[in-house]
Amino acid sequence: MIGNFTYHTPTKMYFGKDCIKDLPEVLKKYGKNVLLTYGGGSIKKMGLYGRVKDLLKDFNIVELSGIEPNPKYDPSVIGGARLCKENDIDVILAVGGGSVLDCSKAIAACALYEGEGWDLISGKVKAKAALPIVDIITLAATGSEYDMGCVISNTAINDKRGYLDELLYPAESFLDPEYTFSVNAWQTACGTADAINHVLEQFFADPHSTFNDGVMISALRSLMENVKIALKKPDDYAARSELMYVCSWGCNGILANGAGYSGWPMHSIEHALSAYFDITHGAGLAIITPRWMKEILSEKTVERFVTLGIGLFGFDKSLPDAEMAEKVIEAFYTFFESIGIPMHLGELGVKAEKTEEMADHILKYDSTNEPWMFAPLGRDALIRILTASM
Ligand code: NZQ
Ligand code: ZN
Repeated sequence: MIGNFTYHTPTKMYFGKDCIKDLPEVLKKYGKNVLLTYGGGSIKKMGLYGRVKDLLKDFNIVELSGIEPNPKYDPSVIGGARLCKENDIDVILAVGGGSVLDCSKAIAACALYEGEGWDLISGKVKAKAALPIVDIITLAATGSEYDMGCVISNTAINDKRGYLDELLYPAESFLDPEYTFSVNAWQTACGTADAINHVLEQFFADPHSTFNDGVMISALRSLMENVKIALKKPDDYAARSELMYVCSWGCNGILANGAGYSGWPMHSIEHALSAYFDITHGAGLAIITPRWMKEILSEKTVERFVTLGIGLFGFDKSLPDAEMAEKVIEAFYTFFESIGIPMHLGELGVKAEKTEEMADHILKYDSTNEPWMFAPLGRDALIRILTASM
């Protein structure tokens, strides 16, 4: 069944080799004063920084560099918002991975807000306006380039918040797969694991439809096949282009139009892990995924596993449902392991003694136990998933 829905992604997407040649024309529409945001230097190493500076020689550019993975409210968002106010910035140009883009989205809203920016990010206050954002995304993973979300860490209170607002859709996004050739094996694997998880968060929902299932299974197949190629041959354009395009669909709702909403429980768990231990988002998700699947396997959910078993992995249709589900869980575990993700949280530095505290944190900030959810998770379930993932 396709249920009721409203769908709108206002972002204009430019995709393909050298699509950034149009950047000056695009930025001109928004004004002359540009805040250029980027991370720790990957864009300089790959020559993209130089190219952007050449293209923007007629603009006034102010720079915010050093945005970290799991971007921090303090100093990056606060510092960026201050730069926008001091320099009368018209538009933000984010160049980098999801963290740079997410941070820029938060800056865009905080720059036009007079109070404490965390009020907006934590949902206490609704933003009335945000600066326009243009981006050149350099890592296939989050889908931030095509959605209205950003995820910001506040280390002072161990909080990592998803902040959603239609004002945060990028106005225009440039996706050139060649700029992902330099992404190392770890980030390639983790980025793909993140995108796989985005699909699974939407696949495990009710109602669902043959159409949505087909699109999502296709997305999973493309991600799982192409990451293997990209890991062997990082400059394989065909593989990098599929990864980049599929990832961009991850979080804007298009995969699940008319389907039920699961509540994205694995993301709730992972955001607590990243908040406490600053781990790589996609790695945390890959480790949690099979443990979460085991936890939620039930008479109600088994059909989802069977559909994946037959549609994605080509398992024998005559297998008993429970056996099929176990094989699907094992297949995901083996797949993540095969792309180089250590399948235990301890290997990423997560400490088991924080398990109960994290479970309480998740229940306080991210509702994983709502009756409307496909598979609600209470405290005991969260602790079981975290413990099994250690
Ligand atoms: O900082 P630099 O030097 O740029 O290096 C980055 C960083 O070290 C590097 N990198 C990026 N592009 C590269 C590259 N290295 C070589 N070549 C390139 N072309 O990769 C490292 C990781 O970058 P990061 O931006 O942190 O990765 P990702 O895109 O996976 O973003 C992760 C963040 O996004 C959030 C996550 O929680 C996490 O904070 N998410 C955002 C979402 C959204 N906005 O919709 C949804 C996701 O579920 C997720 O929660
Ligand atoms: Zn994610």
